[in-house]
Amino acid sequence: MTGTIKHTHRSKWKCPSNIALVKYWGKRDFQKPMNPSLSFVLCNAFTETSVELHKNGDQKVEFNFEGEAGLFGERIEKYLDHVSGRLSWINKYNFRIHSQNSFPHSAGIASSASSFGALALCLTELDFALSGKEIGCSDFWQKASELARIGSGSACRSVYPGFAIWGKTQLFESCSDDYAVPILGGINQTFYGLRDAILMVDTGTKEVSSSFGHSLMDNHIYQRSRIAQAHENMNELYLALLTGNQEKFVSVVENEALSLHAMMMTSDPSFILLKPNSLELISRIRRFREKSKIPVCFTIDAGPNIHLLYFKENEIDVRAFIERELLDFCENGKWIDDRIGGGPKASPNHSKGGE
Ligand code: PMV
Repeated sequence: MTGTIKHTHRSKWKCPSNIALVKYWGKRDFQKPMNPSLSFVLCNAFTETSVELHKNGDQKVEFNFEGEAGLFGERIEKYLDHVSGRLSWINKYNFRIHSQNSFPHSAGIASSASSFGALALCLTELDFALSGKEIGCSDFWQKASELARIGSGSACRSVYPGFAIWGKTQLFESCSDDYAVPILGGINQTFYGLRDAILMVDTGTKEVSSSFGHSLMDNHIYQRSRIAQAHENMNELYLALLTGNQEKFVSVVENEALSLHAMMMTSDPSFILLKPNSLELISRIRRFREKSKIPVCFTIDAGPNIHLLYFKENEIDVRAFIERELLDFCENGKWIDDRIGGGPKASPNHSKGGE
């Protein structure tokens, strides 16, 4: 099967969101990172997207976003335009896109990583089907990651199971600024038991978009030291992951989260995304760790919500702590119970022709 297709072609993927442990903040060129980042994919926070190509109808793209994902539609047309340079067939078809998030848009979790991850996987599958290439070979994932990156930088890390690295580092030759690579082996088993309790401090819309935040790194007074710190934290975190060093993991992860927000607070103009309840949660998490000696820590994305990270073996104690001491500081007591996940999945009846 090459080039021209008479039938409808369809692809459907479910792609998770991810949470960064070493944070991407600041861009170079087009959607390339100023520094390397490392993340793991979640399990319960995902987007399911189907893309159908057809040749009838005047409308280039028909969207059907369930829930409150409507705003996302505007970005998609621009995105398709952007990637049509790499996928020339895009201009030959009309699109029917259906997308649904497992979590409410207002939950404050970055839905762009899972949304662009899922869309990029669909486009990659269609591209491979149209050119007769085998789906699932290693350049399939690389291409999906690269296409996801063009939509939203952090999305490139969502197309793999477990842990992924995006951006050149001294750690692996195979690391790239163009796409993420999975960390395939060697990670201590304890880290596959990671849990992420997402504590919803404020579910309102973001006061400052992450693209504006990234752009403030261009002339940031601490730009050089931030880049050096991210490289150092990558090395330390990777070593901790290999050796099962939970204490080191905790200290690097919190240092990264606070450094990200320190960059925001010292940008010109500066901005603060943390809320009083974010700080209250941070101090309670630290106090709990000191008293109980249980290795818990927090990470934070570009928003006020706190991700409490902990390990499977401490599940009972940490959940009791969340319910007893933390939920009063969450908006309407809301939190999302998540964990490290197994990566994206194709829908069983994907990429069929003939309708
Ligand atoms: O992918 P973007 O442009 O939404 O940037 C996200 C940046 C952080 O979430 C703050 C950090 C990261 O590495 O995911």
